[in-house]
Amino acid sequence: MTLEEIAAAKAAATAEISAAKTPAEVENARIKYVGRNGLLPAMMKGLRDVAPADKPAFGQALNALRTAVEAALEERKAATAGGTGPCEAFDFSMPGNWRGTGSIHPVSEVIEETTRIFAQLGFTVEDGPDIETEFNNFDALNTAKHHPSRDERDTFWLGPELLLRTQTSPVQIRAMLARKPPVRIINPGRCYRRDTTDATHAANFHQIEGLYVDVKPVSLADLKSTLSHFARKMMGDSVNVRFRPHFFPFTEPSVEVDFSCHVCKGKGCAVCKQSGWIEVMGAGIVDTRVFEKVGYDPECFGYAFGMGVERIAMIKHGVTDLRLLYANDLRYLREFL
Ligand code: PHE
Repeated sequence: MTLEEIAAAKAAATAEISAAKTPAEVENARIKYVGRNGLLPAMMKGLRDVAPADKPAFGQALNALRTAVEAALEERKAATAGGTGPCEAFDFSMPGNWRGTGSIHPVSEVIEETTRIFAQLGFTVEDGPDIETEFNNFDALNTAKHHPSRDERDTFWLGPELLLRTQTSPVQIRAMLARKPPVRIINPGRCYRRDTTDATHAANFHQIEGLYVDVKPVSLADLKSTLSHFARKMMGDSVNVRFRPHFFPFTEPSVEVDFSCHVCKGKGCAVCKQSGWIEVMGAGIVDTRVFEKVGYDPECFGYAFGMGVERIAMIKHGVTDLRLLYANDLRYLREFL
């Protein structure tokens, strides 16, 4: 090692550092010259072999090299990091770090919104168990002993008189057994049927039951106006509602209620199977035989309805296959964010 070599190293190092354009280049130069295995520490080690008389001169030269390199590094570090250059310090095109936020599942959303709409009309939320008695699910709902819905092929029986409820209607019975009229309840819950799963059926689905019983007259017109109000709040003012005569053992008269398809506005599409309508619920005037079963005065008046939550979620969001709602594919569910 000679004094000339030290001077040459100083010139080369300061020139290289001054030419650095990014913080990464400055860091590379730092490692190369003053890093642990860099040039300067190597030269410091070389000081051992220098003749004692020359040591002060070499020591001074090496210190000058260190000071010059450190000053140059400081200067370039500040210049490249501050964003004074052409934005090398901050890359605006880098993808951000997004925090994952959850979203409400469409089925939960329909349940929450329905509950809110009916709460404004004075309905309170009632709860009931998924495992029900045969009495609550069938007998008290005036369903004949031989009715096909009791069949083993349709109902999940857990024992001779115990089953997974096939509808939320047993909650009507629970509510009436628990209190006297007026009763105004809404009950969202899971239901179970031995249905083969396809685009519009599932063995496990959700219903929202509604029941209004009073000692003063309650008519089919009240039911229709309440459900029409609900349809508009839920789907928007452009929705049309259609009531078709039907049969349920626990209501008389009974209706099935269709909403015009929200996706095609009634023109016909894949969601509504080209009909322009989607069946969303069953409803009717409570049969006096149900009042008798729960010990109510058969002179009471009431209406009841039970709607399919998945059906409403499907028309609201244009879902053509109900199975998509339960596949738990986050790429799909995120579309509802
Ligand atoms: N429980 C009926 C069903 O599942 C729907 C319904 C509820 C009908 C209340 C009338 C009154 O199909």
